[in-house]
Amino acid sequence: MCGIVGYVGKNHGVDTILEALSRLEYRGYDSAGVAVLHDGQIQVRKKAGKLQGLVDHVHKHPLIGTIGIGHTRWATHGLPNETNAHPHSDSTGKLTIVHNGIIENYAELKEKLISKGHEFKSQTDTEVIVHLIEEHAKRMPLEQAFRLTLKEIRGSYAVCLLSADEPDRIFGARNGSPLIVGIGKGESFFASDVPAVLGRTRRVWYLNDGEVVELRASGPKITTLDGKLLKRQPTTIKWDLTAARKEGYAHFMLKEIHEQPTAIEQTLFNRLKPETGQITFNRSTRAFLDALKPQEKIIIIACGTAYHAGLVGEYMLEEFANIPVDVDLASEFRYRGAMLDKNTTVIAITQSGETADTLAGIRLAKKQGAKIFSICNVMGSSIARESDAVLYTHAGPEIAVASTKAYTSQVTALTLLTLYLAKKRKRFAPARWKQLVRDFAALPNVIKKALEKAPDVKSVAAKYAGCRNFYYLGRRYNFPSALEGALKLKEICPLIHAEGYAAGEMKHGPISLIRMGWPVVFIATKSPVYEKVISNIEEVRARRGDCIVIASEGDSHIKRYADSLITVPETEEIFSPIVSAIPLQLFAYYVAVANKCDVDQPPNLAKSVTVE
Ligand code: AGP
Repeated sequence: MCGIVGYVGKNHGVDTILEALSRLEYRGYDSAGVAVLHDGQIQVRKKAGKLQGLVDHVHKHPLIGTIGIGHTRWATHGLPNETNAHPHSDSTGKLTIVHNGIIENYAELKEKLISKGHEFKSQTDTEVIVHLIEEHAKRMPLEQAFRLTLKEIRGSYAVCLLSADEPDRIFGARNGSPLIVGIGKGESFFASDVPAVLGRTRRVWYLNDGEVVELRASGPKITTLDGKLLKRQPTTIKWDLTAARKEGYAHFMLKEIHEQPTAIEQTLFNRLKPETGQITFNRSTRAFLDALKPQEKIIIIACGTAYHAGLVGEYMLEEFANIPVDVDLASEFRYRGAMLDKNTTVIAITQSGETADTLAGIRLAKKQGAKIFSICNVMGSSIARESDAVLYTHAGPEIAVASTKAYTSQVTALTLLTLYLAKKRKRFAPARWKQLVRDFAALPNVIKKALEKAPDVKSVAAKYAGCRNFYYLGRRYNFPSALEGALKLKEICPLIHAEGYAAGEMKHGPISLIRMGWPVVFIATKSPVYEKVISNIEEVRARRGDCIVIASEGDSHIKRYADSLITVPETEEIFSPIVSAIPLQLFAYYVAVANKCDVDQPPNLAKSVTVE
């Protein structure tokens, strides 16, 4: 959601910025812009739509300069058009900024600035920031004006400031929206995320809220909002750009679906030890989990797909570890007045580690004395840093907006957690434990087998690609799978409405819509509720709905109930959401491709939702 880039160095600034912006495209955006300083003048180019439009525009109207800022905007205030695209400039055109976040008190600030003679060109909240800096800079040095402005604005921001009078430096700051600094050789960067700078440097600083950075080609300087100098060691990024490229796949989503055996292996690596039958974590995670008291209550908070992973976690933690669990959408949790105390552990699940609602949720929980454990993919992200303990999923960078490998690795991490806690609570007979560990370790291979069925899923998808409404139904561990399957389809196929339900809920309303040919995807793999799911399939068939059934391999009984059948290898129920995710993801993918949808960057969606 909005991508920010800042650059100071010796290279062609605009090319560097545009390339960095292209690596942030996955975040989702609807317009793009760039500003470069040369000979005391800032030149701005902006375009609505895809970044390529801006690239073409810059080719026709070239820019030169070795210092500049760039932005991909995801509209919050004002239409996604060229005027509202960033960068935004002050009245004189000497100051220019890019911003990610929402300024909550922008309306009152704007009113005051208008009364002082400022004229606004856009409908954005962002434009007030640059006018406010301009206003303050009439009476004080620019750096001071920038800091004072940051103190006066309320809300979330990652912001970069370029001034025509400052040819050697850019200022940047963050509060609630991600911003990193890349430290190169004779060049420095601001960016919303690491892939933007990876082609040029692996040394980064992750900024914290309330920090201000002065970026120069010779290196960055980091201070508090009040100007106190801070010391920070750079983090060296271990993964490289090839991990963030398509490598022959038509889309990132397809690549990431196929990366799941590896992603799960990475989540399990050094943690699940089948040879000794042990589950182990690093010291801090172990210490955190070992300190959990028997009366502990767990609240899982997350958004979207991560929330669905949390729902799977609820089933497994309650059934296997005997711990009471609530799962909340982070956006609701923060306003529902949940009763928390020191015997509550809040587990935040997040791929990006930057989701605004989840971040606000853990901050609120912390204030009330709860302990925070996060399951996160992005190292050094805000949520990871603010948690008492982190279990990294190590799934590698996920670029497609639709989450796939992050989801299955989150469920894998929750399974590790569950089995660890259950074992500590002596919930297994040795033979049962041995079998679970063996099956868990075999999971990456099981996923590979499920992926081999991609051609079958593709032909089923071709059959239903013209449908515009779908239901997804499942029970128990595969109720969240139904929600996730429906979310995958509707997010990458904006033409289609898809709804997931607990299969038992059908009779309480949704069944009224079923009529001839209405497609219903059932997750009917072998489990203690298998027969119940069959009854639900019967109910849909009785109304002449069309049943697409995901079933366990070798289940010959189910054939007679399915209009279309997709099989997956049979597993223990606890592992089944991970396995059933594969055909659900592939089905959504192939339906989207058949409908010529923008699979990796669906309209209106952003990879990382950093505003409320
Ligand atoms: C899923 O495909 C979506 N991209 C979305 O629901 C996502 O899972 C949600 O925004 C949470 O993101 P996070 O895991 O980075 O916190």
